Amino acid sequence: MIIKNSEFSISSPTIAKCPNDTKNEYAFIGRSNVGKSSLINMLCNHKGLAKTSAKPGKTLLINHFIINKEWYIVDLPGYGYAKNSKTVRNKLEQMIAQYLLQRKQLVNVFVLIDIRHEQQKIDREFIDWLGKSNIPFSIVFTKADKLSVGKAKANAAAWMKKLEDTWEEIPPYFVTSSESKLGREEVLDYIGRINAELAGETLTLPEEPIEEEAQEPAETDEKAE
Ligand code: GTP
Ligand code: MG
Repeated sequence: MIIKNSEFSISSPTIAKCPNDTKNEYAFIGRSNVGKSSLINMLCNHKGLAKTSAKPGKTLLINHFIINKEWYIVDLPGYGYAKNSKTVRNKLEQMIAQYLLQRKQLVNVFVLIDIRHEQQKIDREFIDWLGKSNIPFSIVFTKADKLSVGKAKANAAAWMKKLEDTWEEIPPYFVTSSESKLGREEVLDYIGRINAELAGETLTLPEEPIEEEAQEPAETDEKAE
């Protein structure tokens, strides 16, 4: 997959405001400050496309970026930033859950994990929830440049191994660094393969953008089929 073109499309507070478009969407999520926005810029080779910050809690809306005019990258706010008030955290969690559960265009979620840390409860609960909700996802380990190559590989493998306590099928995973561009080809090729698999399938949307109250959870079953 070669990225020829990447542009900011829109920032939305609800899915009703997201692009009224049928193109595939790939969402990036993880704890605040894990490196979501940096990874998006690295994948697109486009500094400043997604706003990054050394301070957690930078991304607060659903941000769409259109890639090669064919598919979207979606930058989501980080979860679990303790310094946000409970009200802000709840609001963000609701926004994220609404997007993940109801957005039919969403074909894969990349869950970002800082490669330096052991498996944290908040990440594990989040991916267990994705599984229960039948939302396809893969794991992307970030900041691999902060460890030796051997240690990074070992940490990622140990983290994935821990999933085997309850997961029968282990999702794909990638080891990346936005600094060194490690893992860029692998993630982009993976997206390219999913796009190719789905190329023959068309998604139909209602004529009017979906209003929040008009949504039925059962409709999410049709997603990506
Ligand atoms: P929020 O939007 O606040 O949730 O954060 P985010 O997950 O989008 O993180 P962001 O990309 O803004 O990066 C957070 C910090 O980590 C910044 O200071 C980045 O420079 C740094 N960072 C991100 N990725 C990497 C990486 O691969 N290597 C190193 N060394 N630093 C990174
Ligand atoms: Mg961000």
